[in-house]
Amino acid sequence: MANTAEMFSQQCFGSDDQVPTVDYSLLFSDDQNERAKSLEHLGKACQEFGFFYLINGVEESVVEAALKGVSDFFELTNQDERSEYLKKNSRDRIRWGLRSHAGENREYLKIVAHPEYHCPAKPASFRDAIGEYFKGMHEVELGLAKAISRTMGHEETYIEKEFKLEAGFDVSAMNLYPPSFQSKGSIGVPDHTDPGFFVSLIQDVNGGLQILSHKGKWVTVSIPRNAIFINLGDHLEILSNGKYKSHVHQVVLDDNQVKRISVATLHGPSLDTFVAPAPGFVDESRPPAYGGMTYKQSLELNGSDEIDVQSSLSE
Ligand code: SIN
Ligand code: FE2
Repeated sequence: MANTAEMFSQQCFGSDDQVPTVDYSLLFSDDQNERAKSLEHLGKACQEFGFFYLINGVEESVVEAALKGVSDFFELTNQDERSEYLKKNSRDRIRWGLRSHAGENREYLKIVAHPEYHCPAKPASFRDAIGEYFKGMHEVELGLAKAISRTMGHEETYIEKEFKLEAGFDVSAMNLYPPSFQSKGSIGVPDHTDPGFFVSLIQDVNGGLQILSHKGKWVTVSIPRNAIFINLGDHLEILSNGKYKSHVHQVVLDDNQVKRISVATLHGPSLDTFVAPAPGFVDESRPPAYGGMTYKQSLELNGSDEIDVQSSLSE
């Protein structure tokens, strides 16, 4: 078996159960051949899998500091301080909650990361580190928009324009899951797909997140130390008329012997952008498979604990 360094020193497709790895830096290589090869690889990862590990996107030290910051938030504040962020009114851009019913088990903090950035002031280590991570991730979002547009045979500004990413609405959920022995057989988050362009995920320990592959198999997401997991969202699936699919995933606690922290960020189009199958993906043999919807509509469908998007629009 190849060691991790060997496996990830090259962009790879492994067996059906293996998540492909995409090297972000090669997507913008000055070497034209290398860039073309890498875009082809990204296109395959998007079409055949719909999810991949991204390396050389955000610096490893920034990711590690972000995870440490989230851990500080959960450890250095007490529950009374955290519950200050329980939803009080519909304009709250920072929201904290505990889920321990209907088989679901997690504590979370949700914040709006873009177009405005909202974050608890304390602890400062958390606010600064997570802010740096969001800054890096936003750059990566714009870069992936360019590269994925290219894989679709479009100008590199295509997705940025279609999704109005300048005002793209990014919401991040920072999750703390208990160890499985504290809640045997529990589900962390039930199966779902995510709205938007894509979701980025980092976690402090592997195990927990499972994704239903195109082969109909649950694959455990085991993120290499230097990578970020990218899972394409519903609005990219709609725009591409099903060519680039958003995959069902869930969090189980069964294989988590220790607590797990994750940061799952939904990178969206702007809230009011109506996304429907685009002309280039529709023809006689491929009629539109989706009616289309705005990002705001899907966030509202997604659950009552989401950030209130109505008030974001009216501000
Ligand atoms: C998680 O892995 O903690 C949640 C990921 C997601 O639902 O996107
Ligand atoms: Fe999700």
